[in-house]
Amino acid sequence: MRAQRRVTARTPRVVRTAAVQVDVVTIFPEMFAPVLGASIIKRAQESGRLAIRVHNLRDYTHDKHRSVDDRPYGGGPGMVMRPEPIFEAVEDLKRRFCGRHAGCQTILLAPQGEPLSTPLAKQLALRRHMILICGHYEGVDERVREALVDRSISIGDYVLTGGELPAMVVIDCLARHIPGVIGHAQATAEESFEAGWLEYPQYTRPPVFREMAVPDPLLSGDHGRIASWRQQQSVASTTASRPDLIRARAAQQRG
Ligand SMILES: C[S@@+](CC[C@H](N)C(=O)[O-])C[C@H]1O[C@@H](n2cnc3c(N)ncnc32)[C@H](O)[C@@H]1O
Repeated sequence: MRAQRRVTARTPRVVRTAAVQVDVVTIFPEMFAPVLGASIIKRAQESGRLAIRVHNLRDYTHDKHRSVDDRPYGGGPGMVMRPEPIFEAVEDLKRRFCGRHAGCQTILLAPQGEPLSTPLAKQLALRRHMILICGHYEGVDERVREALVDRSISIGDYVLTGGELPAMVVIDCLARHIPGVIGHAQATAEESFEAGWLEYPQYTRPPVFREMAVPDPLLSGDHGRIASWRQQQSVASTTASRPDLIRARAAQQRG
């Protein structure tokens, strides 16, 4: 069965020649338009740097109720997503869209997956094409992970009700690393996690707001002083909030 859903009429035009193409398989396609049809991700699609197609998994079912889930073997609460529609959907998308992209990856959003990080987002941004599978209920039948999926990605150590928000987080995060999507390359180069540090605090006008003054170095016009203040602030903030990043950096440097 063929199934292709434009997100909605308000979704930016689908550009087939985009640098990075993402197909999303979901039982809630309507969740995507408000997020992916706005702001920087909208402009990335309009400029042809990113193309997103959202597909309804229920279009790959064959029963009257279009059911995608069933009870878990072994008992227990909740339902599990059945493998057949997911395999059919991904195989159909691969046939239709992956032929020309040898590097097509099928990715399952799952709490058990590798944690999403800046280095992983950069790797994904280099891919021509990926298929994201959004789970629901108690998750997906394990045979999907075993035989269909190239990698699983988690967006954090907590459990959400479905894979749609994680899929949108992955898309947003990787899109920032597609050349040209963020206006100033420098803007991503200095961001949190780029070099293992959190970013320094940012200020804008006015110079004094409710008796809170912008730190002197930032008003000095002295680039060396500004850079050194920012570096000190990055180190202080990382030490206070994320000592694990400092330990990881030290371990990496030790080899
Ligand atoms: C309620 S969760 C299933 C949780 C599963 N029973 C467990 O304990 O690991 C349903 C779906 O939401 C998505 N999901 C939930 N939390 C996630 C996370 N932290 N990262 C990525 N996907 C997540 C996955 O697609 C998952 O199949």
